[in-house]
Amino acid sequence: MNTLFDKTVINRIKLSNRVVRSATWMGLADEDGQVTQKLIKTMTDLANGGVGLIISGHMNITSEGKASLLQTGIYEDKHIPGLKEMTNAVHEHNGKIIAQLAHGGTFAKDELINETPLAVSIFDGLSEFPRKELNTFEISRLIEAFANASERAKSAGFDGIQLHSAHGYLLSQFLSPYYNRRTDKYGGNIQNRTRIITEIQSAIRKKVGNDYPILIKMNCHDFSEEGLTLKDSIQAAKTLSKVGFDAIELSGGLLSSSKFSPCRTKINATEKEAYFKEEALLFKKEINIPLILVGGIRSFETAEKLINDNTADYISMCRPFIREPNIINNWKNGNLAKSECSSENLCFRPGHSGKGVYCMLKNKQKNKQKNKQKNTKNI
Ligand SMILES: Cc1cc2nc3c(=O)[nH]c(=O)nc-3n(C[C@H](O)[C@H](O)[C@H](O)COP(=O)(O)O)c2cc1C
Repeated sequence: MNTLFDKTVINRIKLSNRVVRSATWMGLADEDGQVTQKLIKTMTDLANGGVGLIISGHMNITSEGKASLLQTGIYEDKHIPGLKEMTNAVHEHNGKIIAQLAHGGTFAKDELINETPLAVSIFDGLSEFPRKELNTFEISRLIEAFANASERAKSAGFDGIQLHSAHGYLLSQFLSPYYNRRTDKYGGNIQNRTRIITEIQSAIRKKVGNDYPILIKMNCHDFSEEGLTLKDSIQAAKTLSKVGFDAIELSGGLLSSSKFSPCRTKINATEKEAYFKEEALLFKKEINIPLILVGGIRSFETAEKLINDNTADYISMCRPFIREPNIINNWKNGNLAKSECSSENLCFRPGHSGKGVYCMLKNKQKNKQKNKQKNTKNI
């Protein structure tokens, strides 16, 4: 029976347990997309905290693909030295780190880029701002940009890469019949809508070789009208597992949806944890590569059960690590307390205001405690 603390291997990376830190934009790069010391410290805290595999925040592979404030970039060679410093620091603390490669597509932020954002298709209601529909030449340029970014990731010392094809970003827009209304070979049935991803995988493989892990994060379901359905997503996953991806991380929902967003709120009972577990079971039956499950996992019991009963090969968490980077070592050392993350998504707020992502509730509690101590001293 598999357990959470098994040692495993994905392609050639040796992992010390089955826990992944899901990609997390920390808003801690500088305006040029360069790594900062604060970002490196976040990564070394995670490595010290015992997580088996860290996935970086989404990194834009072209300058016009930038979707978040103070996002880390990987679109030019100038980013390599900073990224290398970060991967070296993680490795010195016995961690493993994978680069998440991303493009915002229509969700690239107008105010952060100097060009018109690219869209898979243009239609009424897509955006209140101008968008440019990708032509086939631009699609081939994008495929090349993903491949070049993967080469940069490898030379910067990352242990592998993950394509961000979830939550409504560019590759997820290709998979979605709502965003993808193309009539060429990249649109139409799910085989066509998956095509750009298989072409990117093949271009990346040529650059990085067979023994370099290529992962993908995708939605099991967009949970939105006319979006990617479960049936089509399973079909896409089957194709992706056959063309040489090394693992699939399963998520769901779009950033624009509230109730069914990838970061659901009110995870206050065991039944609400692992909110894509039913879908994971269906994917597991159809794919022959490791499945990493993300979304609302908060307790050791849930994590261990998902692994014991083979619902997933790895469990992945994001928000719990923002609050407690050390949670895996705690679990390993016998402190099996559930994550203190309240799942209210307040951690986004400081990120959006340029201060970097952190747990606002933990900071509030710390300040309260400090004030209490001050007041006691004054008595
Ligand atoms: C602050 C923040 C930043 C995130 N950044 C990314 C990202 O860069 N790439 C990505 O694929 N998902 C990102 N996510 C989504 C998470 O990886 C994860 O899928 C989601 O939070 C559900 O997992 P959780 O319940 O363990 O938090 C982010 C989530 C949060 C809260």
